[in-house]
This record gives sequence, C-alpha cells and structure tokens, in this order.
Amino acid sequence: MGCSWLLILGLVLNVAHCLEILGLDGYPNLEVSRNVTAVLGEDAYLSCRYLGDSLIQTAKWKRQGNSKGTAKSLAGFRLGKPFGRDNFSNPESLTNLTVQMKVSSVGVEGEYICEFESDEENFFASVFVSVVARPHIQILVDAETINDTHFQSVSCSAVGGRPTPQISWLVGGLPPSDHFFTVNVTETLHSNGTSTLSSVLRFPTRLQDENSVTCVVQHPTLPQPELTTAEVESYTRPNVTIKAEMVQRGENDSWVVSCVSSGGRPDTDISLALNTTEELHRESDTDSDVQKVSVYLPATEHEGRTVTCVFDHPKFTQKESRVLTLPTFYLSGVQLNSELGNISDDFQATEYLELQEGESDVVIGLEVSGNVPRYNIICSKDDGPLPEGVELVGMSLVVQGPVEHQHAGLYECVVSYHHLEAALRFNVTVKAPVVHSVPPTIGVDLRTEDGRWVIECSAADAVPAANVSWLLPEGVSEDFWFNSTSQNGSHSVRGVLLLPACSPQELTAECVINHPAFEEPENRSIILPLCARPNITISASTEWKDGHKHTKLDCSADSSAPAAAITWHVGNSDDNISHVTEAEVQADGSVSARSSVHFLSSLYAGQNLTCTVQHPSLEAPERRTIHLPVHKAPLLSVSLVQQQDPSPWLAVCRCRGEGVGKNLAWILPENAKSQTSLHSEYEGHMLEARLTYQFPLARHEGQDLSCVYQFENGNTEKKTVHVPRYYITSLRVLNHTTPLKSRYTAQPVVHRLSLHENHHNQKILLRVEGNVPEYNLNCQRSDGSSVPMEGAAMILQSERTDKGLYTCLASFYHHTATVNIQVEVINESEQFALMAMICISTASAILLILVVTICVCCKRNTRKEYKKRESVSALTALMHEPTSPQVKKSAATEKDSKEYAQLVSYSIVIDVKSTV
Ligand SMILES: *[C@@H]1O[C@H](CO)[C@@H](O)[C@H](O)[C@H]1NC(C)=O
Ligand SMILES: *[C@@H]1O[C@H](CO)[C@@H](O)[C@H](O)[C@H]1NC(C)=O
Ligand SMILES: *[C@@H]1O[C@H](CO)[C@@H](O)[C@H](O)[C@H]1NC(C)=O
Ligand SMILES: *[C@@H]1O[C@H](CO)[C@@H](O)[C@H](O)[C@H]1NC(C)=O
Ligand SMILES: *[C@@H]1O[C@H](CO)[C@@H](O)[C@H](O)[C@H]1NC(C)=O
Ligand SMILES: *[C@@H]1O[C@H](CO)[C@@H](O)[C@H](O)[C@H]1NC(C)=O
Ligand SMILES: *[C@@H]1O[C@H](CO)[C@@H](O)[C@H](O)[C@H]1NC(C)=O
Repeated sequence: MGCSWLLILGLVLNVAHCLEILGLDGYPNLEVSRNVTAVLGEDAYLSCRYLGDSLIQTAKWKRQGNSKGTAKSLAGFRLGKPFGRDNFSNPESLTNLTVQMKVSSVGVEGEYICEFESDEENFFASVFVSVVARPHIQILVDAETINDTHFQSVSCSAVGGRPTPQISWLVGGLPPSDHFFTVNVTETLHSNGTSTLSSVLRFPTRLQDENSVTCVVQHPTLPQPELTTAEVESYTRPNVTIKAEMVQRGENDSWVVSCVSSGGRPDTDISLALNTTEELHRESDTDSDVQKVSVYLPATEHEGRTVTCVFDHPKFTQKESRVLTLPTFYLSGVQLNSELGNISDDFQATEYLELQEGESDVVIGLEVSGNVPRYNIICSKDDGPLPEGVELVGMSLVVQGPVEHQHAGLYECVVSYHHLEAALRFNVTVKAPVVHSVPPTIGVDLRTEDGRWVIECSAADAVPAANVSWLLPEGVSEDFWFNSTSQNGSHSVRGVLLLPACSPQELTAECVINHPAFEEPENRSIILPLCARPNITISASTEWKDGHKHTKLDCSADSSAPAAAITWHVGNSDDNISHVTEAEVQADGSVSARSSVHFLSSLYAGQNLTCTVQHPSLEAPERRTIHLPVHKAPLLSVSLVQQQDPSPWLAVCRCRGEGVGKNLAWILPENAKSQTSLHSEYEGHMLEARLTYQFPLARHEGQDLSCVYQFENGNTEKKTVHVPRYYITSLRVLNHTTPLKSRYTAQPVVHRLSLHENHHNQKILLRVEGNVPEYNLNCQRSDGSSVPMEGAAMILQSERTDKGLYTCLASFYHHTATVNIQVEVINESEQFALMAMICISTASAILLILVVTICVCCKRNTRKEYKKRESVSALTALMHEPTSPQVKKSAATEKDSKEYAQLVSYSIVIDVKSTV
C-alpha cells in the first residue's frame, strides 16, 4: 500500500515539474523562463517562446509598470523587424523572444511580460527578475591601549552586497567563545540598493594566543563561504630565572647576580630589588629573546644577602619575582687526610703523625672543610720555616727524599680567606727502623755494553746493608761505582765494574762482599775471555780522474770491539798520511774498522806504504806494507812523412803514455803555427797524442824540426827530426845525341838524336842526376802532346810521326830539370853519303889547317897567344852549366832566399861525340 502511494506521489510531482518547464501551467502554448536571478553588473537572459500554431503578427517584452497602461515595449518584433531598447538585445524570431538583458543596476529588478499577438488571439506570460550583488571583502587590524591594556580590533566588511551577507569569525579554527572577545556588527544600506555589513572582533592581546583570526562571509553569490585571514599580534609568556656566578675581579671575589627572562614577547620589564649602589648592567639578545639584567656584588660585603628579581609581563596576571640568597662563607677547619695512618688526637686538638725513618715519597695531605671559593695556606714548623726537603705542593706537604730525624717537630698550617681563618697543628715523630741481621743474596752478572765489560756484583735484601768491593789485577784501567737501595727496611747494594772489552792478557776480577752475617768475606771471581786479534787486510785500487792516476789504499781490521786504530806511513818515515777511517759494528758484535788513503799515484810512486793497526788485543802494533809501482814516463817520438808529390810533407810528433797530457808543441817559425794539428786517442788510460805539422818541403829543407813535450811538473822533453836537403843536377839522355843549337844563345841546348828508319818502339833513355829519392818524369812533343814513358825511357813508336822536338821534365817537389831533344830519322844511303861527305871535308880541312898553321907559325908569333885565350874562354863557358839551384846556392853564399825559392831553367850538358 505504502509503495503505491509513493508511486502515485512521484508521478504527480513529475507531471507538475514538466508543466512548469513548458510553461503550460498558466500560459498555454508558451514556454517561458520563470523567476530569473540576475547578478548586478552581468548579463541575464529572458526567454519566452510561442509553441502554438497561430500565425504571430507582433511579439514584445514589456515591463509591468506600477501605474496601469504605461508599460512600454522593451524588445520584440514589429512589422516583422526585431527591435531592442535600453539594456535589451534584439530577439531571435517572432516566436522565439529570447533576449539578453544587461543588469546595470538594482532598478532592473521587477516583473517582465512577454506578449505574442496573432489575428485571433493574444498570448502573454510574466517573468520576475530579481537582482543580487556580490560583496567584496575588506579586512583590517587596529590596535589601541586603554588603561595599560593592549587591545586589537579586526574589522571585516562585506561591501556592496545584495541581499545582506552573513559574517562570522574563527579563532584557532573555532568560533570565538571566550568572554573577552566582543563582536560588533553594523549594516549600512546604500542608495544603489546594495548594503555593506561590517563585523568588528575585539580582544585584549594578552589573553589571546593565536597569531591570526579568520573572517567568514556567506552570501548567495558565493558558492561557498569566503574565508579571509588577518595576522594579529600575540604575546608569549617568558621563562624567568635568577642566578648567581662567582667571578674574580682583581683581589676580590664578586657575585654576578643575573635576572634572566627568555622567550617572552613583548619584552619583560625586569627590576632588581636590591639595596645597592652598584651599577645595573642590562643586555638583551633579540635573536633568542633573552633579556638579562645583572649586577656585580662584592662577595664579602653581600654575604647572606637576599636578591630579588621582579619581572612584569602582559602575560602575567601579576608581577612575578625570583629570590636568591647569597651564601655566607665559613671555614670550619683543616684536617689531615684520613688516608694517612698513625694519626692520633689528644684533647688539645693536636694531631700526631708518625713517620718511619728512611721512608720515601711521603705526602701529608690536608683537607679543608668550608664553602669558601678559595683560600691561602701557610705552613710552618716549630714557628719557623719548613725544614729542607719538605714543601707545600697544593694542599699537601711533600717530603722529598727519605724521611730524616730533622723532619720531626710541630707543624702548623693556617688556611685563610679574608677574615675567615682555620688552623691545624700536628706533631710529626720520626721512628728509627728496627734492625734484624739478614744476609745478602749474592749475584754476579757479566755482559758487554758500549764496547766494555760490565761486571755487576749485587748483595741484595740484606739487613744491614752489605759492603761490596773489588779486587783487580794491577795496571788495568777500570771504572766502577756502587749504588744502594732500600725497600721495606732491607738494603740492596750493587757494585758495577767497567773493564775494557779487550786486553792482550787474560783478566780476572774479584768481588768481595762483607756482611755482619758472614764470618768471612765472600768472594766471587770472574774470568774475562780473551779478545780475538784483528784480521788485517790491505788492498790497492787505482782510478783515473781528469787524466791523473789516483791510488786508493784500503786497510781494514776486523776485530772485536773496540774498533782498531789504523794509521798510514810512507816508507820508514814516521809521517802520517791523512786518511779516512770508519768503523762499523757487525751483527755478531765484531767491529770492522776501515781506513782509506787516496792520493795522486805519482806522489808515492816507487815507495812502500805501511798501514799500522793498533788494537787492545795486540801488544805491539801490526803492520801491512804495499809497494806502489813506478810511474812510467811518456814515450816521445818524432818522424817525417813524405806524402805523394806535390802534397806537403808531414812532421809527426807522437807522445804515448799513461795519463799524459796533450801539451805537445812544434818549435816553428811563428807564421807556421796554423798548420799543426793535434790528434789524440785513448786506449784505456793510455793516451796516444799526435801533433802533426804540415809543411811544403821547400820551407824546411835541410833544417831540424823539434817537438817539445811539457810534463805536468813543468819539465820538458825535446825530440828533433832532420829534413833532408834534395837536389837534381841534370837530366841526361843516355842515347847518342849531338847538340843542335849554338851554345852562345840564351836558348837551351837541343840534343839531336837520329833514329833509324823502319825500327819500331825505339827507346830514348833518360837519367836524373841528383839525390832525390824519386821523381816525376814527363816528355812532351812540341805540340804539347805527351809521349808514353816506360820508367825512365821515352818510347817512340814510329819514326815517321815521331820526328820533331821533344821536351822532357824531371821533377821532385820544387826541384826540376829539363832536356830538349830533336829527333830525326835517317835512311841508310843518306847516312852513308853524309858520312863520306864529312870524311872528305874533314880531311881537306885538316890539310888546310896544317898548311895555314905552318905559315902562321913561321911569320906571326904574337897573335897566336891571343887566339889560344879565346878558345879557353869558350871552353869555360861550356863548363859553366846551369844546374839545380841548390847546387848553385851551396857554391855561392846562401844570401838571397828569393832567388833560392825560384825555379830556374837548366841547360843540359851533353857529351859531344859524333856517332859518325
Ligand atoms: C517568483 O517570484 C515571486 C516574487 O518574488 C514569488 O512570489 C513567486 O513565488 C516566485 N515563483 C516561483 C515559482 O519561484
Ligand atoms: C531561441 O533564441 C535563443 C537566442 O537567440 C537561442 O539561444 C535559442 O536556441 C532559440 N530557441 C530555439 C528553440 O530556437
Ligand atoms: C580606567 O581605569 C579607571 C580606574 O580603574 C576607571 O575609572 C576607568 O573607567 C577606566 N577606563 C576605561 C576606559 O576602562
Ligand atoms: C553601491 O554603493 C556603494 C556605496 O556607495 C558602493 O560601495 C557599491 O560599490 C555600489 N555598488 C554598485 C554595484 O555600484
Ligand atoms: C558598535 O559600533 C558602533 C559604530 O562603531 C558604535 O557606535 C557602537 O557603540 C558599538 N557597540 C558596541 C557594543 O561596542
Ligand atoms: C621555559 O622553560 C621550560 C622549562 O624549562 C621550557 O620547557 C620552555 O620551553 C621554556 N620556554 C621558553 C619560551 O623558553
Ligand atoms: C637599604 O639601605 C638603607 C640605607 O643604606 C638602609 O637603611 C635599609 O635598611 C636597607 N634595606 C635593606 C632591606 O637592606
């Protein structure tokens, strides 16, 4: 049943809704928007459509006026044309009268009627337009102080709203419920139809803790409530304290009393309730919100005084105060440290302290009871200063060294702080140790240390102390000491004996211990082992440095410690050579001493060097001798090298030797220096230096050349080589020749030579007269072509072509000689005719001469003599043959050197012997 009722109700409601949209509820055939809510300043749409079948003539919107019949058309169709007026737009069509309306003021609110007219009927419907305006929200915070109370007012305004908005507040997310919040709302109506609603939230700042408040505005134009937040000032409660610190200002102690307020906002008002003239010191740290007011109070003057800090802050309901009472100082007394034993009190408040004689490291501690920040302490003994060896260190009396009798007495220590004072008196007694005779424990120990034997003999844990002494062989250099220690009343004596680690003989040391418990002294013997003799080696090595030979001698002595002493001597002299000695301790404890001497080998060449080793294990020093070889002098030699003519000659000076210098020199005329060249090469340390002097033979022929070597020490050695003197006297033709040219002319003599017809390869033999070791021989025809030679023979191949004038030249450097040969060819018949002719003419001539001679001899004697002289002079002219210039020069005085250097033409003297 209930279900069908609900179904029927839903059906009815649905039909009603459909009718409302279609506008069919009151206006048949019209569809119209009913109540329109327009927002001020925006556009609104008024919609009205005719849905019927009638032909519409006119359609328009009208406003329902107050007075009847005065409604005017706002928009519509007239005579088929759309129109819009004031804030209205043109409608769409005759049947669709939808228009846009500008909502410019609240005044547009009201009822509007749409009207359609057809020929038969009019249709109309009314639309109500209501205008709303969206408020804009303003918020501002104001503060005031009334009667010392700070108030803040937050004003929130919703300006120009329609209808009137609603304003509420949120403080910390909740409505302000506390009694101190007041809210005053005022509404103002404006002439333009809107209104402004203002709400003021007011509160005293000190009671409110939130940093912000929120204004909530609700209005139909706002889809949801609008929240606006304003920052407000808030206060924080400070933490307040009082504190006192002790500081030392010069001699005096002062309290610094501080009133501290931290974390408060706004600042705390701090005051110090104190009856003082001291200056207050204020400081505040804005970063950490700490404020501090402090005052220096001299500690002694303010003992037991109360200081009060008074803090005032808006967050406090009333002023808060913190109180501090400064302490009163007291010194109640001084006691001996309870750790010390043997303390006893008597009724006179004097303490007794008993110490054992010989006790060491005694510290008498003092304890002060009181609350003074510091104090002075002065101690005395028997009204005088503290005895020697007793010192006050901090709060303790320290006995340095063993306790002695003089340490006994009445001690007084006074502790003071300003007017406060406390004293302690204590009586120190020193007890003599009790003695029981206890024999010592004897121990002997032998070891080496720093190259010496350390023999230790101990008599330990004896009462009383034992007496230890040494018995030693004579003549031993020893070193010893004793030390004794005491512990728990027993004494230990230790005797230490130091003996050289090495000695040539066996040593025995004896330790003698005497003690009352012994009937006779106890002996302990220690036999020291023999020390090994050093192992000595000597070695030599040489090295070259800067061309000098250096010798290094090493002498080493391996021995037991200590290191052997090594010295060096030359020959039998006592002179020491400076040396470098080093000692090295080997892993097995033996010591290797090594001494080196380093010198230029030449210094001690040929001598003996001795290394002398001294060591405690040797009764006499040991020697090792080494012989240094003699230094060989360099070998100097000179030689001449004749090179292929015409190359210049070489004079070579060689110096060969170990470690020699290169200071070789040829003694030459000044202008010849540049032609020397030095060449040197090493073969190990053997230097071969070669100084070569290149010269034309002519310059030094017949002279001596000297080479000088200068030793390091300035001495010189000289070697000389002789340059031989050469000459060519003549070039002779060994074949039969006849001189052709007159000997009276300046022309050289030409030798005529006849060759037989039809003989091939005929030789003309030549010979060079002189002392040259070799020579060049060249023959030329008159046309300049050269002739083949075979040794000293000129070869003529065929008699036809070979006749003519030949010139032959023999040369050796600047020495030359020439010969001219006229070669003729004779056949047998011509020769015979010629010979016959010569024989006849000779015979007739002799006959004629004979006749003439007889006649002349008979008639003229005087003229005969003259003719004889003439023939003699002709003969001498023949004998004055030009020769090699040297030959001539040696005959003449060797004056003119220019003439000497020049080449001269030579005539050749031929034996004139006719073959006929
Ligand atoms: C339209 O508005 C008028 C005037 O405010 C009101 O009386 C009427 O009830 C409204 N009609 C509807 C359907 O809201
Ligand atoms: C009527 O006119 C309005 C405005 O021009 C338009 O938005 C609307 O669609 C029209 N209605 C019909 C049914 O044509
Ligand atoms: C200020 O305080 C005085 C004295 O308490 C009082 O008489 C006066 O009314 C106060 N004024 C206000 C504005 O509260
Ligand atoms: C109406 O008048 C008030 C006060 O004059 C003004 O603040 C508001 O903006 C006005 N509203 C409009 C829509 O003009
Ligand atoms: C509210 O505010 C108005 C205007 O500021 C003022 O006249 C009135 O006295 C206020 N009321 C209260 C209770 O503060
Ligand atoms: C005040 O002191 C308390 C306790 O010492 C501390 O927890 C607190 O944080 C302090 N407040 C400020 C504002 O310093
Ligand atoms: C403060 O000082 C004055 C004078 O110095 C003295 O008369 C008074 O008793 C003092 N008050 C207190 C509380 O110490």
